[in-house]
Amino acid sequence: MTQNEKPGIVTLVGAGPGDPDLLTVGAARALGRADVVVHDNLVCPEILALTPQAEHIDVGKLPFGKQTAQETINGILVREGSLGRNVVRLKGGDPFIFGRGTEEVEALHNAGVPFRVIAGVTSLNGVLGAAGVALTTRGLKRGFAVFSGAGSSAAEFRSWAAYPGPVVVYMGVHSAAEISREFIAAGREAAEPVVVVARGGTPRETIAETTLEALPVLLANAAEWTPAIIVIGASREHAFKARPLDGKVAVFSGGSLDSPVADELRALGAIPARGVKHEPAHAFAREVAAPVEVPKQ
Ligand SMILES: C[S@@+](CC[C@H](N)C(=O)[O-])C[C@H]1O[C@@H](n2cnc3c(N)ncnc32)[C@H](O)[C@@H]1O
Repeated sequence: MTQNEKPGIVTLVGAGPGDPDLLTVGAARALGRADVVVHDNLVCPEILALTPQAEHIDVGKLPFGKQTAQETINGILVREGSLGRNVVRLKGGDPFIFGRGTEEVEALHNAGVPFRVIAGVTSLNGVLGAAGVALTTRGLKRGFAVFSGAGSSAAEFRSWAAYPGPVVVYMGVHSAAEISREFIAAGREAAEPVVVVARGGTPRETIAETTLEALPVLLANAAEWTPAIIVIGASREHAFKARPLDGKVAVFSGGSLDSPVADELRALGAIPARGVKHEPAHAFAREVAAPVEVPKQ
């Protein structure tokens, strides 16, 4: 950047966990003014479609590896901001909850590029409430703990297990066996209820209720369950499970998903989804998975 050039502003924007309804008004405004949108692959296509005027840079799928290195992303943000462009860095959920937002603002600060942050709905509240999991209940559950299942040691798992209430795990699918083992070893009941919500808020959402002991069996095929939020020590509320279309997908071949009919279906427990030509309706299978049997030792 030369002395006469004015940098643009880089806005870190939380896109929520997948359902476009969870985008904030502030996020939608920032997207409407963006010259360039730098997004990762947890951001859904409907949200990206709100920015036809902007250049899109997908830093989740660049051809040098499955994930783009954080330094590369930082470099793109600094470069685009230094060019005087209005940059939106669009991130799944909230930028500062397991989102590496701090590293990005640090890089921008060091390069002298102005930044701001618009919070997003994180997966924890965006996904769990809609699936019928209440993390607090007046007089019964007064708090909950949250941790990342990725990169945690056995000792850390045991320390989270000591929390006297529900424990929410982000990025825990691949370490489900270790989490289950360490939580039980730390004294949590093998039969303690566990809820898993995979791809929450999308037509491919899957909700499963299981136990701490059976969790590794349920998630054995990890690729089928990511991304997912796992809650140990909570169940789905009866009022949600009792809705007549709980666990069903309503496939629309035409018409709007933003309509009174779609809302009525949502209130009955269904997820309205758009039918895709040449793709069978069962491709949208949202399931409430059956309980998993634990093989006897
Ligand atoms: C790298 S973290 C990003 C979290 C994000 N910043 C947030 O606030 O939700 C990725 C993890 O978020 C959770 N996650 C993201 N989107 C999700 C979704 N639609 N359904 C369930 N879990 C989701 C999963 O635990 C996933 O492994």
